[in-house]
Amino acid sequence: MANEEFSTYLDTSDEWIRSHTGIGFRHIAEPTTATSDLAVEAARKVLSKAGLPPEEVDLVLVATATGDFLGFPSVACIVQDRIGAKKAAAMDVGAGCTGFIYALETARCFVLSGGARNVLVIGAETLSRITNWQDRNTCVLFGDGAGAALVSADGSGTNRGIISSVLRADGSGAELLSRPEGGTRFPFTDRVVDPVATYLKMDGRQVYNFAVKVVSEGIVNIMETNHLCINDIAWIVPHQANVRIIEAAAKRSKLPIEKFFMNIEEYANTSAASIPIALSEMSEKGLLKSGDLVVTFGFGAGLTYGGNLIRW
Ligand code: UT7
Repeated sequence: MANEEFSTYLDTSDEWIRSHTGIGFRHIAEPTTATSDLAVEAARKVLSKAGLPPEEVDLVLVATATGDFLGFPSVACIVQDRIGAKKAAAMDVGAGCTGFIYALETARCFVLSGGARNVLVIGAETLSRITNWQDRNTCVLFGDGAGAALVSADGSGTNRGIISSVLRADGSGAELLSRPEGGTRFPFTDRVVDPVATYLKMDGRQVYNFAVKVVSEGIVNIMETNHLCINDIAWIVPHQANVRIIEAAAKRSKLPIEKFFMNIEEYANTSAASIPIALSEMSEKGLLKSGDLVVTFGFGAGLTYGGNLIRW
């Protein structure tokens, strides 16, 4: 869906959206497609690429804020059944747009502890379902999508995989990005609810300021903790929310903007799916070489933030 479609019914323009966000397009799921449908497709692709039979998956993690159902069952259970991961545990990871980063670290800990050998980690969202299409402050920002990774125990000694992660939260900002109604705080049982209150609501300016701060400080923190400098890092893969956030964070941390991968123009903000979509696209384009060090960094509802250091 191109930016121009919004200007047919809202007071906005392609020029405004591009200059304030870097977004040109977003992909919108068919009305009959739910988050698990996108997640299943991503899961099948990654298993086929890795040549791993679904019976050998020990754990399915789905990072999402847009489950098929309210609260339960989890998207992960639906995926587990549909791909035939008969011996797997399954759970969703709810950390907003930082979800995939949280899920990768969860997978790493399961594998290191010996609790799992193969963990399927998926980021999947259908944000179009929870977007208020009449609110120009938010509807132009989001898109639908999914991406997946397989995190496996590897005895080969190549030291590839997730090396370390930094995960943080600041729940004092919980109200800055929320779906106010429909949960247990404001249930929609026994009363008529304004549908607008069930949609995503955001204080964009505050989230912007928070994001620039945590991204700029967080990436430097990951490098310092691991005794690395920017020359050691092949790519920084930030959450694809807004080009201006990424540019401001790069400037503030004095990191070269060329190291930051961006594909937000094509997909907009796909929340927990944005980093796996970016990694997948980079892999397909041959941008990632075996042994490359990659830093991911995300931020979002919660508020949450964090990043992973990965040896590709
Ligand atoms: O995954 C994390 C999710 N959240 C985010 O990434 C959001 C972070 N925040 C942002 O990216 C930016 O704050 C926005 C893109 C949401 C807004 O950009 P901004 O430069 O901070 O604009 P603003 O909020 O300061 O608003 C400036 C003006 C306002 O008009 P007035 O009050 O000055 O008359 C808005 O109503 O821009 C207006 N505006 C728009 N105008 C045309 C807001 N959205 C639009 C729009 N088209 N789509």
